[in-house]
Amino acid sequence: MTAPAARAAQLRRLLDEANHRYHVLDDPAIPDAEYDALLRELQAIELAHPDLASADSPTQRVGAGVLPGFAEVVHEQPMLSLNNAFSDEEVAEFVQRIEKQLGVAEPEFSVEPKLDGLAISLRYEQGLFVRGATRGDGATGEDVTQNLRTLKAIPLRLRGQAPPVLEVRGEVYMPRAGFEAYNARMRETGGKVLANPRNGAAGSLRQLDPRLAAARPLAFYAYGLGVTDGWTLPARHSQMLQALRGFGFPVSPEVSVARGLGGLLEYYAAIGARRDALAYDIDGVVYKLDHHDQQKAMGFVSRAPRWAIAHKFPAQEQLTTVEAIEVQVGRTGALTPVARLAPVQVAGVVVTNATLHNADQIARLDVRVGDTVIVRRAGDVIPEVVRVVAEKRPLDAHGRPLHAPFEFPSTCPACGSPTEAVRKVLKQTKAGGIEYAEGAAIVCTGGLFCPAQRKQAVIHFASRRAMDIEGLGESLVEALVDFDYVRTVADLYALGLDDFLAMRRRADERDGTVPETVKAGKVATKWAENLIEAIAASQATSLERLLFALGIRDVGESTARTLARHFGALQPIMDADEATLCEVPDVGPVVARRIAGFFAEPHNREVVEALRKAGVRWTEGAPQRSAQGPLAGQTVVLTGALAVMGRDEAGDRLQALGAKVSGSVSKKTSFVVAGEAAGSKLEKALALGVEVWDEARLLDFLNSHPAG
Ligand code: IVH
Repeated sequence: MTAPAARAAQLRRLLDEANHRYHVLDDPAIPDAEYDALLRELQAIELAHPDLASADSPTQRVGAGVLPGFAEVVHEQPMLSLNNAFSDEEVAEFVQRIEKQLGVAEPEFSVEPKLDGLAISLRYEQGLFVRGATRGDGATGEDVTQNLRTLKAIPLRLRGQAPPVLEVRGEVYMPRAGFEAYNARMRETGGKVLANPRNGAAGSLRQLDPRLAAARPLAFYAYGLGVTDGWTLPARHSQMLQALRGFGFPVSPEVSVARGLGGLLEYYAAIGARRDALAYDIDGVVYKLDHHDQQKAMGFVSRAPRWAIAHKFPAQEQLTTVEAIEVQVGRTGALTPVARLAPVQVAGVVVTNATLHNADQIARLDVRVGDTVIVRRAGDVIPEVVRVVAEKRPLDAHGRPLHAPFEFPSTCPACGSPTEAVRKVLKQTKAGGIEYAEGAAIVCTGGLFCPAQRKQAVIHFASRRAMDIEGLGESLVEALVDFDYVRTVADLYALGLDDFLAMRRRADERDGTVPETVKAGKVATKWAENLIEAIAASQATSLERLLFALGIRDVGESTARTLARHFGALQPIMDADEATLCEVPDVGPVVARRIAGFFAEPHNREVVEALRKAGVRWTEGAPQRSAQGPLAGQTVVLTGALAVMGRDEAGDRLQALGAKVSGSVSKKTSFVVAGEAAGSKLEKALALGVEVWDEARLLDFLNSHPAG
């Protein structure tokens, strides 16, 4: 074997093993990034040596050319459906029928979750995946092999001693997390959202462009067999599932064996209790007689087996009507429309509100007051409106809709400040901080002044990279704002020991968490003393920290730093007009408008004044203007993730060399530095013919131009 052939074989083994560990054993062995690196290496080898390509290579999963249509597949063994049971009584009848006909008491069943996806059949010949088909009408389905190949949960080659012919049946489904992430991405980019994970799975498999299917987060569980040749079937269904695991198929870990009616109902209750915690939607459980010879003895009626039944759960989607559409202001200032609904039971919980997400979503759904809608509730996800039932929209005497389309308020319902549409929204990070992320929203411009945003403003103000008030965490801020001790950030500096102790007492009483020691008359004070000390310590700060702490939209740490350097003092920043602000490196017209707009609001100037009066002092210095250095006069855009130094630091270093760092690409951009997973900015640069640097080139440049 040549060296590339040996390496390709080794890479395939490694990738297959990683896939199997991740999708079948649910025990990931290597990080995603490493998987991707190995896959890229294999792709490169196969590209350079086309003779090494093979159908079962993991590279064949990425999705090839667009198909003209789907061929028909006749199922040699029809794909049956299941009868449903909606009550314990119906399950009891099912069990009694079996007990009577077979003359056995308490037979054993394979008990399985009923996945809410799409049934498919996978055919393997000599261990190789040769064809995958949808169920269709049970007799004839569609050949969706190319799309199924993109699912990493589906083995392209069987493991172990595989029979010459094996058809495996199971469900393709979309895990809830993948569904949510996909829809969030679509909402942000204005794409089409999926109504539910089931539609997501079905729609993905029917894509004619396999690359689209590859982009959808689909998974697979095996639960049955079609035709087989050269395999002695184990005596029990549960053993057969175990054998399928051995061949490399994922089988749900929830699968079990239960005895008699009691065992079935116990399983139903146990899975039902965990339904919301499962990673995927299920619409019930399936009971199958475990012994194959008992299955055979029971046989079939029309198109469903008499040896199996689906015991359904209450539906996750229900019809109800919209009584009102209200707008809530979140802590980040984003306005979220909420539908108030006529109360309805959805999957065992009474739902009275559903999120409508944002303006784009409302426009897409065209939800109006009085509409009949489908609401969906799954897992811990907030109930949402999936669709309007258009035929049921109330009409006036002229046959026109009774209610006009919903319009977003032009002023904030919490503080009356003007609202505006933005393309970047504040998001909570995993670490608990906040940052800007891509996404469309309507936001309140009130900032510090808006009561709905007060908590977030204070949390941000106190955070480590802003005023760095140690110990002033989220729950304390909540209580301080809830009990009205703090309205603006300046109020923090007026708080005394008595205020903190009184506040803690009120919060404990409200939450029913008054400690025994307090009841006994012993009040802990050390925490409050420490906090007062930390607040006092934050009085001496730097201009850039203060600017960042004010929470001006779009003014992150790096912009705050450039502003501080450029102007040297706060007053000239507060007095600068947009044109003057635009002269600052890294400040474009949008950010300039935000800063000028912020300081144009009297209440924001009052907060600054109040901070000054409260003894907050910041370092001021001489303005540092002239951009000199090897990059003077050049505008640079950073995009994507930079692995070595991160975008903030890279931006600082480029600025130190005289560059202006901008957030958007235009013809005037001198060059774009594109890191890992760069997206639209990179595309725009390429379209405009702007020079693109990768991270390595940037590092080379910075290393050869140490800042003076
Ligand atoms: S067995 C002869 N097992 O339910 C038995 N089906 O209503 C055929 N389904 O088309 C199906 N989870 O899409 C079986 N553990 C499971 C299942 C399951 C989901 C779906 C499947 C089938 C439908 C029948």
